[in-house]
Amino acid sequence: MELDPATLSPREAYQLLITSIVPRPIAFVSTISPQGLTNAAPFSFFTALNARPALLAFSVISPGGVEKDTLRNIRATRDFVINIVSEELADAMNTASGDFAADVSEIDLTGLTALPGVKVKAPWIAESPVSMECRLTQIVEISDSFVSIIMGEAVLFHIRDGIYHDGRLDEMQVRAIGALGTNSYCRSDATFGLVRPTIRPPQPSR
Ligand SMILES: Cc1cc2nc3c(=O)[nH]c(=O)nc-3n(C[C@H](O)[C@H](O)[C@H](O)COP(=O)(O)O)c2cc1C
Repeated sequence: MELDPATLSPREAYQLLITSIVPRPIAFVSTISPQGLTNAAPFSFFTALNARPALLAFSVISPGGVEKDTLRNIRATRDFVINIVSEELADAMNTASGDFAADVSEIDLTGLTALPGVKVKAPWIAESPVSMECRLTQIVEISDSFVSIIMGEAVLFHIRDGIYHDGRLDEMQVRAIGALGTNSYCRSDATFGLVRPTIRPPQPSR
């Protein structure tokens, strides 16, 4: 079958997208307001774009143009932290996605620990296995659609003790979860290996 997303309702178009692109990594983004109130919320329209500089991007959708606290804080402070969501953090991440008033700190509400950023004003979440302090590089506003794509450079990684060995982070010990469709998640331990092909340059003929 063929489906033109323009013929779908906004809800159907959203469902089609989030069930087509699976699993999606989840950025649990912590920020701070100019008044010093901490905030955290999950975003699964999220990816890494480059390694050096370490560029990350996620998109904030503000239905009706009412900006989410995360976006407002990043505009004001120009930084944020992306915390990776491990299995133990799943419930807290889900609770933090609630539409709480701006004066509610989802970090305090969920019993997580906000530690002060080293290079940024935003706090990082101590319980996360990997947290990346990011400086804002750019916000790309998609006109008429209430979408803001936030790009940042990771300038400091906080990594849980014991999961980084011999210059390599053990992704199996991170135990990150991924987002599937609505209210559905997967673990990252159903893995298999594939060795990338090495294409030799053509040999001179004898
Ligand atoms: C797994 C998951 C993924 C989400 N991904 C996004 C996303 O990519 N973009 C977005 O705008 N909201 C996303 N949300 C919803 C936000 O987390 C939610 O609107 C939250 O209340 C925003 O919080 P804030 O106002 O403190 O920034 C997601 C929620 C969940 C549970």
